Amino acid sequence: MSAAHVAETQMNSPDRPETLLGGDQFQGAAPGKRPTLTTGGQPAYFSCWDIHAYYGESYIVQGVSFDIREGEIVALLGRNGAGKTSTLRAIARVDDPALKSGEIWLDHKPLHEMKAHQAAQTGIGLVPEDRRIIQGLTVERNLKLAQIAPPVGWSIERIYDLFPRLGERRRQEGTTLSGGEQQMLAIGRTLARDVKLLLLDEPYEGLAPVIVQEIERTLEQIKSLGMTTIIVEQNAIAALHLADRAIILDMGQVVFDGTSQAVLDDADLRQQYLAI
Ligand SMILES: Nc1ncnc2c1ncn2[C@@H]1O[C@H](COP(=O)(O)OP(=O)(O)OP(=O)(O)O)[C@@H](O)[C@H]1O
Ligand SMILES: [Mg+2]
Repeated sequence: MSAAHVAETQMNSPDRPETLLGGDQFQGAAPGKRPTLTTGGQPAYFSCWDIHAYYGESYIVQGVSFDIREGEIVALLGRNGAGKTSTLRAIARVDDPALKSGEIWLDHKPLHEMKAHQAAQTGIGLVPEDRRIIQGLTVERNLKLAQIAPPVGWSIERIYDLFPRLGERRRQEGTTLSGGEQQMLAIGRTLARDVKLLLLDEPYEGLAPVIVQEIERTLEQIKSLGMTTIIVEQNAIAALHLADRAIILDMGQVVFDGTSQAVLDDADLRQQYLAI
């Protein structure tokens, strides 16, 4: 059954939550309300609670809830079309998909009440799948442009320390970089902003194994610095080796939330939801 078909069924269901009925406006939490989710008795650093998001009439993110501790790396996994990118986009508060209800909190700030630029200022750093390197600008201009408005994050030199290849190519036009180098630039550009939650959408996509290893090593370094991160990857095994925890989505809903090791140890679970 396709997600769209499920959407249609659920849209017409009498069980459909009251808050989803009618209108395009967000109908979530009251301003200033605190999340109820806690981790180990502590308020989570990041939580999304019962989020529902739509592309037009298509009901895609169907009540997703999870929380993340500060410094934790979470692999968000699932088959093609499971809703991974849509969940990241809903968290980043980009217009599509439209968040219709639920709460999203980062470091006590209500992202669900924000537009994308406010979520970015609050510390959401989305590295999209298509990387979006700005045409006609050198590597360095791409990085400097990210720092044009506060809050500024890493210095350009620190980004070059993390990605020496970018330093070597600082005067090269960004769009002429190799795929792997463009991915490094996309990550570097995000770190140039003051990021509290890094969202990586398929950072290894389309890259040769040797480049994947190079980016993996960099992500390990970023992890050791305590950056809270969600990584979406088709290469689930690579993501599971990097991540502390895994969340598996299926048809826009969370079907597993546990340790990465539990997924690595459970062949049936992997076969059922990840086809690996
Ligand atoms: N702009 C859009 N308009 C309508 N439907 C969309 C749009 N973008 C995505 N969808 C639908 O939403 C569902 C989830 O898509 P999403 O891109 O979030 O999946 P995904 O888990 O990231 O998949 P993949 O692994 O292929 O990247 C799919 O059924 C997809 O067709
Ligand atoms: Mg995707």
